[in-house]
Amino acid sequence: MSQLKVVSEQHTTDESFLNDVLDGLSQQQKSLPCKYFYDDRGAALFEQITALSEYYVTRTELAILEQYSHDIAKMLPENLSIIEPGCGSGKKVAYLLAHLANVKTFVPFEISKEMLNYSLAHLSPLFPELVISPLLGDFTHSQMVKQLAKDTALDNQTNLVYFPGSTLGNFAPIKAIEIMKNFHRLCGLNGYVLIGIDLVKERQVLLDAYDDKAEVTAQFNKNLLQRINNELNGTFNLSGFNHQSRFNEQHSRIEMHLVSQCEQSVVINNHLFEFAQGESIHTENSHKYTVDSFAQLAEQANLTLAHTWQDCNNYFALCLLRPQN
Ligand code: TRP
Repeated sequence: MSQLKVVSEQHTTDESFLNDVLDGLSQQQKSLPCKYFYDDRGAALFEQITALSEYYVTRTELAILEQYSHDIAKMLPENLSIIEPGCGSGKKVAYLLAHLANVKTFVPFEISKEMLNYSLAHLSPLFPELVISPLLGDFTHSQMVKQLAKDTALDNQTNLVYFPGSTLGNFAPIKAIEIMKNFHRLCGLNGYVLIGIDLVKERQVLLDAYDDKAEVTAQFNKNLLQRINNELNGTFNLSGFNHQSRFNEQHSRIEMHLVSQCEQSVVINNHLFEFAQGESIHTENSHKYTVDSFAQLAEQANLTLAHTWQDCNNYFALCLLRPQN
């Protein structure tokens, strides 16, 4: 097992958290960056979301993997190296690894050292033969990825970049293209990219998936305000805000908002923010694609859609992409 390769340590310091929060709440449409959802409580709540009956995404993607793993394996060469950007705990890839016999190396690529160590500890005993070669860095940071692709020996093997969970959908299309260009760099000209995409479907199914009856998603969303209170001396009254999921037709995306229930003001580190009744803070986007609209997006990153595997409801697609030479 190799040591962590550190390209440039990116700390999510209190200072950048504070600046991002002040900046987001100063916009006309107030917003907060979704990357701050995942403190310990946020990560635990997200785990609960993935098990909710309304949230079809996780179980559908895992069922597709389960059903089609042999077909997927057939399309991939021997001695494959899997790179997973933002692998988190490594739980999803364990599923893929269990189903593919031809994987030699796993490269977890994470911004968080703790998560990398956790994924190592979790995966090594499950797959004792597997070479695990962790990379510490930010897959959304193109300069960093360019440097990494140069510095590491990724070129000497056939790489599959694995990006499940419809996480690509949480980025605006322009950023999603940039990220897929980074995947292109990471997999090299002979490589493969496997991305999980949530598909456009009946509006109510989408709205419910992000606004469950047990209100776990509401707690997850409001936890962001709690985190600001805890870490940045914020004065948010959590019961003064309601969670809401909206479908934005123009951008084909689910949006999550926190809607102020009354006229109120909030102080964060000596900065005052006023909220009108009904005014919202936009906290998350989840873009929904058709297979065609996703193929077009991928083309802009010089990736061609080679195959998709879908569930019988056509809720979700696992998309295999190949780099154009
Ligand atoms: N990427 C997944 C999705 O868009 C998971 C996710 C990200 C999510 N943020 C979320 C799920 C907020 C529920 C609420 O569906």
